[in-house]
Amino acid sequence: MDTLKLRARGITKTFHSGRQALETLASIDLTVEAGEFVTVIGPSGCGKSTLFNIVAGIETPGAGTIAIDGVVESERAGKAGYMPQKPLLLPWKTVEENVILGLDVRHVPRKQALAGARELLKRFGLLEFAPHYPATLSGGMSQRVALLRTVLFNPGFLLLDEPFGALDALTRLSCQMWLLDVWQEFRASVLFITHDVREAILLSNRIYVLSARPARVLRVVEARLPYPRQPQQLASPEASQLESELMSLLLKEQQL
Ligand SMILES: Nc1ncnc2c1ncn2[C@@H]1O[C@H](COP(=O)(O)OP(=O)(O)OP(=O)(O)O)[C@@H](O)[C@H]1O
Ligand SMILES: [Mg+2]
Repeated sequence: MDTLKLRARGITKTFHSGRQALETLASIDLTVEAGEFVTVIGPSGCGKSTLFNIVAGIETPGAGTIAIDGVVESERAGKAGYMPQKPLLLPWKTVEENVILGLDVRHVPRKQALAGARELLKRFGLLEFAPHYPATLSGGMSQRVALLRTVLFNPGFLLLDEPFGALDALTRLSCQMWLLDVWQEFRASVLFITHDVREAILLSNRIYVLSARPARVLRVVEARLPYPRQPQQLASPEASQLESELMSLLLKEQQL
């Protein structure tokens, strides 16, 4: 049996505006095993979010196929929980109402959806915020709420586009450990984008390094740190070696 959650094969994308063509993805092959945490890193503007939009079915690729659970379908809405780079919490809805957004399309009764949301908020330490409005949340809390909304929509397969990019270092660290907890709880398959090499090493089973635009896969590496992961492991010789290897690959690609 195919244990792959995702197989992206030969994905290309060129954007056209007027007479200009912007080649964004050269030809991307990428897989995520069931239950695996895979991270994509690459220079800004190389096409990471575009790749996610294609996996989620929001954009169509120029060429190539996306198979989720072994099935190639052009209509992929709902096959993954997608947290975009700038997730929106609706300011006029409470935290719990924000968490159940998206379940409307599945026609889940509101009472049942709210019960599911409260259970999830409770399990992951956010229940006290359930009746509050997003304006009262810190940056880290907002990102956790947006992430739980994604989990409630589809806990099996999560596409997370730089969820912690805008947070300060300490908040970021606690969100990272929290995400590992969420991942373990649901045995989710995760595809994650970050600019931060250390974040990639701390969280992932495997890391794809993309080139500058048009993006192609420069390297795929395994992060072999033992589980459960702890921030202190980043100081280990294995992690430091991997960090310097990934940094030098990225620095070569970054157009300064
Ligand atoms: N809908 C679109 N139409 C035209 N060009 C687009 C569109 N979406 C993205 N692009 C362009 O494609 C390129 C890749 O964008 P994308 O957002 O995928 O990069 P990224 O790797 O996610 O960058 P960042 O790390 O800064 O988030 C950029 O040059 C961007 O301007
Ligand atoms: Mg992006």
